[in-house]
Amino acid sequence: MNFIKSELEKNKKRYLEELTQLLSIPSVSADPTFREDVYEAAEFIRQKLKVAGADNTELCPTEGYPVVYGEKIIDKNLPTVLVYGHYDVQPADPYDLWTSPPFEPVVKDEKIYARGACDDKGQMYMHIKAFELMLKNDALPCNVKFMIEGEEEVGSDNLGPFCIANKERLAADIVLISDTSMIANDIPSITSGLRGLSYVEVEVTGPNRDLHSGVYGGAVANPINVLNRMIASLFDENQHITIPGFYDDVEEVSEDDRIAMASAPFSLEDYKKDLEIAEVEGENGFSTLERTAIRPTLDVNGIWGGYTGEGAKTVLPSKANAKISMRLVPNQNSAKITELFTIHFESIAPKSVKVKVTAHHGGEPALTHTDSIGYLAAEKAMEATYGKKPIPLRSGGSIPIVALFEQELGLKSILLGFGLDSDNIHSPDEHFGLFNFYKGIETIPYFYEEFAEMMAE
Ligand code: BES
Ligand code: MN
Ligand code: MN
Repeated sequence: MNFIKSELEKNKKRYLEELTQLLSIPSVSADPTFREDVYEAAEFIRQKLKVAGADNTELCPTEGYPVVYGEKIIDKNLPTVLVYGHYDVQPADPYDLWTSPPFEPVVKDEKIYARGACDDKGQMYMHIKAFELMLKNDALPCNVKFMIEGEEEVGSDNLGPFCIANKERLAADIVLISDTSMIANDIPSITSGLRGLSYVEVEVTGPNRDLHSGVYGGAVANPINVLNRMIASLFDENQHITIPGFYDDVEEVSEDDRIAMASAPFSLEDYKKDLEIAEVEGENGFSTLERTAIRPTLDVNGIWGGYTGEGAKTVLPSKANAKISMRLVPNQNSAKITELFTIHFESIAPKSVKVKVTAHHGGEPALTHTDSIGYLAAEKAMEATYGKKPIPLRSGGSIPIVALFEQELGLKSILLGFGLDSDNIHSPDEHFGLFNFYKGIETIPYFYEEFAEMMAE
């Protein structure tokens, strides 16, 4: 496939211009203010798929934002790769922490800066360009189907039903996804696992109204004080989570696998330096990589209540709230963990308050077998373009649809990500390296080739 490098060189500029256009569309799925923009991004993708040569391109309606579909079936007897990605992005707030506006992409130091640059527009767009490149050069070795959704960042609630309703249309041999990161530009890796997620919101209510914190303070439970106490009690002195049954289903990782994990290149010093922290912390008995890859966690994502405006207001608030996420590892189940959390949280509430727990979206963990054809094809593809064998590495993030693909379509996913953990996804100044963008476009065709070849054997 010698043509790839030269074709890439010829078209680089246009690829980047198109990505810039896509990144200019504020397709924030969480905020209804951007509804029109989300549709615009969907239509943009559909058109680009069509121009690239995909057939039957369509915006498939769902209860929420549409799924963009397109396909190229060259021969029913050849294997089929289903490409998944998402065109929606996280909210860009807080805007004032961005160096340049989040929806006015700029290239600086060989990186493109914009919300969605890495997660996932930049990575998803690599697939459309790689597909275009293969088709144009008459080199597509397998069938390809695209399924690009617009609700990943809000939990993909409508994608499960969509998969069930479109089983035939989505029939494939493997799912290929670029929505994760690799270790470093000179240390390629393939994501071999994702964590699951339970997300809950809690509300603690004390007195029926806000009170004067002098007149009533000390005698009536302050819901913020109580909430803090309750949250603090969710960890013991070893930073183990105290919810009864929380660890019951956790799959212990073998000593051999832990040794293999420890051999992955990782510098704790660089990690701390990058985050400007003096020390890391987490569950006792586990390394930093293990804490994010093979262990479940509990984190408060947001907490509010009482007076937070200018100056001081003396008030004993009626309510306090928090949003809490729990990352789950293989064999844990999000519905079960949400239930365990709810029962426990209600049980530790003092009589002086009422608590309400509301469940948000959940998702199940996923694992890729490193001896599967899909993984081996991805490994060979990266080896071809990076000149070294990629390292399998479990990621701490979640893509709930991966477990659903397995459950509903019987399909395994290959997580061929080209981002870096330092790309600031979900944060201000999100960016994606141009090296990574082009390397992705260069590598994907090799995956097609290797996968088609290995499936034929
Ligand atoms: N692409 C990310 C997930 C990711 C990022 C996995 C980096 C591995 C490495 C995805 O868009 C995401 O943000 N997922 C959410 C969950 C979703 C239900 C909102 C997450 O992990 O918080
Ligand atoms: Mn993503
Ligand atoms: Mn994301």
